[in-house]
Amino acid sequence: MMSEKKQQVSRRQFLNYTLTGVGGFMAASMLAPMVRFAIDPVLKASSASEMHAVVEVSEITKEPQRFDWTVEQVDAWYTSDVTHSAWVYKNEKDEIIPLSPVCKHLGCQVNWATNEPDEFYCPCHGGRYYKSGENVPNTPPNAPLDLYEFEVRDGTLFLGQPVPRQEV
Ligand code: FES
Repeated sequence: MMSEKKQQVSRRQFLNYTLTGVGGFMAASMLAPMVRFAIDPVLKASSASEMHAVVEVSEITKEPQRFDWTVEQVDAWYTSDVTHSAWVYKNEKDEIIPLSPVCKHLGCQVNWATNEPDEFYCPCHGGRYYKSGENVPNTPPNAPLDLYEFEVRDGTLFLGQPVPRQEV
């Protein structure tokens, strides 16, 4: 009687272990892609320094112009084309200013001179930025537009990643 009870318990334990093992395996196989997704930006940091040819420097004017470029993004087994944009101009000192178009409020795209003649404007909630990319006080954004890493090679402007101002 005692040994039968013992045996029942051990069968139950065996079942528990088996189910725990199978459950654990299933959880691990579900979590693995999530973990990969979570740390993906970290993994991508190695390609963060990648630069892309965007425009001939001779085409850059004092007036901000929007330039788009497409990057092939490989994500595990899925490859897609991702389009990036920048507002680029030369300031009074003839320095190239490549601004990210992503509003620092909630991430909409800003446009040039659609509201005030010399400002960037975000249509989502009326966010405004001066030409320098600094946010206009008392409008929704609370930080300036990011600046792209850039370099000029053989007369062509190459852009890398947008970097928040406090890190520039
Ligand atoms: S997202 Fe630009 S003002 Fe809100």
